[in-house]
Amino acid sequence: MIFTVAIDGPAAAGKGTIGRAVADRFGFRHLDTGLLYRAVAVAGGDPVEAARHLTPEDLQRGDLRTLEAGRAASRVAALPEVRAALVDFQRRVARSEGGAVLDGRDIGTVICPEAEVKLFVTASPEVRAHRRWLEVGGDAGRVLAEVKERDARDMERADAPLQAAWDAVVIDTSAMGTDEAVEAACAVVARRFAKRT
Ligand code: DC
Repeated sequence: MIFTVAIDGPAAAGKGTIGRAVADRFGFRHLDTGLLYRAVAVAGGDPVEAARHLTPEDLQRGDLRTLEAGRAASRVAALPEVRAALVDFQRRVARSEGGAVLDGRDIGTVICPEAEVKLFVTASPEVRAHRRWLEVGGDAGRVLAEVKERDARDMERADAPLQAAWDAVVIDTSAMGTDEAVEAACAVVARRFAKRT
């Protein structure tokens, strides 16, 4: 059975939490595609070469989830050659046997436009910055500025910019707790999954 759940949206909207929970609930694989760009960014050297030679071990590094790695990832993600080098791997995972959940920025628009379910998970910049701040601490104003800067870069780049696919279901998690957001996503997936099997 091939069944892809594409989850796109801006930084800290809850995509990862929702993606993992959906994958657990339905027994699908889960790929956080942001990790690919983060691993390329922290590899050092030529990012295009790093993207072409990325290994599973590169995705295990302990320093991929920092604010700095996120900011650097957003920069290398604007390079078309980097994106092109990562497409085949993501497509293979998306269409692998047994079902897959991929979260990122361009999954429903570029990587897997044929995905059976497309979710666009979003929240206001203030809410997302507050969640990030709870994780990383530091100066709250700076975290908000970072979130807005990353949104602008991810949305304004020429190649595969962050945008909702026309057929995506939008879930705004601004006023939702984790459980509510997960249930909203699982309800959409369950409806589509029931129709298909
Ligand atoms: O989801 P994240 O914060 O881990 O992503 C880090 C950066 O990687 C993000 O700012 C943009 C880029 N990215 C992308 O361009 N396309 C994806 N599918 C996933 C992430």
